[in-house]
Amino acid sequence: MNVKKVMVMGSGLMGSGIAQVCAQAGIEVILNDVSAEALDQAMKTIAWSVGKFAEKGKLSEDRETVMKRITATGDYAVGSDADLAIEAIYENMELKQEIFRKLDQICGPQTLIASNTSSIPITELAAATLRPEKVLGVHFFSPVPMMQAVEVIKGASTSDETAQTGRDFVLKIGKEPIMVNRDIAGFVINRINFPSTIEAMNLVEQGVATVEDIDKGLRLASGRKMGIFETGDMVGLDITYGAMMSIYKETATPDFIRPFCSGAKSRQAIWAGKPAGDGTRTTQTEPGKHKEKRKWDISRSIRRTSSLF
Ligand SMILES: NC(=O)c1ccc[n+]([C@@H]2O[C@H](COP(=O)([O-])OP(=O)(O)OC[C@H]3O[C@@H](n4cnc5c(N)ncnc54)[C@H](O)[C@@H]3O)[C@@H](O)[C@H]2O)c1
Repeated sequence: MNVKKVMVMGSGLMGSGIAQVCAQAGIEVILNDVSAEALDQAMKTIAWSVGKFAEKGKLSEDRETVMKRITATGDYAVGSDADLAIEAIYENMELKQEIFRKLDQICGPQTLIASNTSSIPITELAAATLRPEKVLGVHFFSPVPMMQAVEVIKGASTSDETAQTGRDFVLKIGKEPIMVNRDIAGFVINRINFPSTIEAMNLVEQGVATVEDIDKGLRLASGRKMGIFETGDMVGLDITYGAMMSIYKETATPDFIRPFCSGAKSRQAIWAGKPAGDGTRTTQTEPGKHKEKRKWDISRSIRRTSSLF
């Protein structure tokens, strides 16, 4: 199937980026959110970012042509004839399953339903629908307009045809598909990256190096555009925590949650890269402006992780 119309559920950091790259590739986009404010903010952010791409000569069209392809709405039904629905709402199993049930009821039989989850098994989301063979993971990386890799994940029931359409879609939007043939926690890239994130936290905690030097070293020695702690700040600790927790649950390897359980020093290490330094996640929503986004409730997460031992 050639994907020509996409519905994106959730217009936050990831959903707005996904809507942007689809529209830039000539795909019609229905961008949905429960919050009118979030939709409004997303449209402003997308317009600004598309404008930057146009200014740099990276687009063959002007900003208005790209923006006209995106319809922002709180109404699900508008996207019922989409070829592909991509869910990018909060990382919460119950909320996501509810959306998957709704999409399954509303969308036509041809619609593939995908999740951008970092950590929730695709197979469990597929189980909320009557079309598990048409459910897949498409895991984008932040910032979506810049990052080239997208993991395409097969759940236990995902058909080969669905996975192939996912792959073709990723190529169509000018990105590179990384095929994940089995639905394992953390998929492939996070599964490989997280052990170094944890080691970086351990090194800060042990006083071996500072957050700033580790980030600088990784940028200069490993060719990364951003250090490990800078990346963690952008992604959000709640998402990192959720993904590490799901790997821990699957592998029973305590290393994956130790930084979240082992006392004040570790917590400082995890937070030290943040501009506010107090666990407040910030995100750039407009040029030059940082908006407070979400508070990381460390005491609650410590209670949750401690109860596992
Ligand atoms: N942040 C990252 O770097 C990153 C990277 C890869 C994957 N992800 C995954 O992408 C998903 C979204 O993450 P994010 O950082 O963009 O979150 P976010 O908090 O920035 O945005 C989530 C949006 O979903 C909306 N929403 C909540 N419930 C909804 C509903 N029922 N219907 C429609 N909209 C709803 C919210 O209003 C909000 O605007 C998560 O599953 C996360 O794990 C995040």
